[in-house]
Amino acid sequence: MAARIVLFGATGHTGSRTAQALTTRGARPVLAGRDRGRLGPLATRLGGAAGPLETVTADVTDTASVRALVGPGDVLVTTVGPFLRLGEPAVAAAADVGAVYLDSTGEPPFLRRVFEEFGPRAERSGAVLLPAFGHDYVPGGLAGALALAEAGARAHRVDIGYALDGGRGQGFSRGTLVSLLGVALEPGFGWHGGRLAGEPTGARDWRFDAAGRTRRGLSVGGSEHLTLPALAPTVQEVGVYLDWFGPATSLAHRLAPVTPWLARVPGAPAGMTRLADLVGRRVAEAPTTGDGTRTHVVAEVRDAAGQRVSRVELSGPDPYAMTADLLAEGALRAAAGDVQGAGALGPVQAFGPAGLIALAATAGLTRA
Ligand SMILES: NC(=O)c1ccc[n+]([C@@H]2O[C@H](COP(=O)([O-])OP(=O)(O)OC[C@H]3O[C@@H](n4cnc5c(N)ncnc54)[C@H](OP(=O)(O)O)[C@@H]3O)[C@@H](O)[C@H]2O)c1
Repeated sequence: MAARIVLFGATGHTGSRTAQALTTRGARPVLAGRDRGRLGPLATRLGGAAGPLETVTADVTDTASVRALVGPGDVLVTTVGPFLRLGEPAVAAAADVGAVYLDSTGEPPFLRRVFEEFGPRAERSGAVLLPAFGHDYVPGGLAGALALAEAGARAHRVDIGYALDGGRGQGFSRGTLVSLLGVALEPGFGWHGGRLAGEPTGARDWRFDAAGRTRRGLSVGGSEHLTLPALAPTVQEVGVYLDWFGPATSLAHRLAPVTPWLARVPGAPAGMTRLADLVGRRVAEAPTTGDGTRTHVVAEVRDAAGQRVSRVELSGPDPYAMTADLLAEGALRAAAGDVQGAGALGPVQAFGPAGLIALAATAGLTRA
């Protein structure tokens, strides 16, 4: 019998899209959130002729309510963010009880905590933690793994570039904007000289071609840094870059070296939290660009002399559609017992290269 799937954050933008993606695939997830008044109508709408889906109330400020969501072997999907502020109770519950955990985070410091702090706890209980199982950072993990496999023992460095095309207006959801502001002053990381190293987000830039155009991406801590080196022992350098910042790219790059000092200015982190809350109250819950956006992800592997050895480019749909489909498909396959291993894992480690290619294709992510 397939395991129970619990979706925490079901009433949010990404959560409701993930709930829809699950029910479209025939699943009947348990919908969890803090607001019973919003869970009920969603459960009725998505439950269809078979009756409303089961709902459970849980609030991250009441950790017992979050612990009560999952039992051993359950699959917990969470889209409750910002994760740095709100994510710990859910990952701790899954890690300690021996559940499979998937989340939609893209926040580097939270990702690092999942791997370094909760991963060992999960290994002890047999839990599997799959953080950032959405647009950030499944495509880069897949493109990087394919490019590394093609490069073989010549692989010395791998760079991953994320590009977005199309759509005018508010390109990110309210939740994403609040999460981005919440980590603006937080330490980032990279993989240099064969080890994980702290560095400010945006400290490096990379020009790469995607979908026929040259882009300029800024560096960010991704799950690729934490998972790709294990696939290719010769790799000494891993870079992950986002081209999302348009005209603000140069300014963000120039300001990056001073963010560690800004973070130490008394009141600056609290001020950033207040700004994130203000933005959260002012912007629309959903992006206004619709589903017209396209994602392109490039992985390039170079040898020790800097010669390009392999290149893989993937294309996919709008990031929110892709995230909902990846979370839904990942949860269903985990519930069916398709995940291998224990602890905090990358997408390739959990599903294997062939399994991940098939899973990604169901979310519209394919080789360009
Ligand atoms: N990496 C990616 O590719 C990617 C893609 C999509 C989203 N994301 C991330 O996913 C997160 C959610 O984004 P979103 O657009 O869905 O945001 P959202 O619409 O604001 O949803 C946030 C969810 O968190 C819930 N929540 C807030 N405080 C809570 C609490 N104390 N206890 C329980 N639940 C609580 C909200 O419940 P209410 O409905 O009751 O307010 C809502 O369901 C963000 O961190 C975003 O950056 C990442």
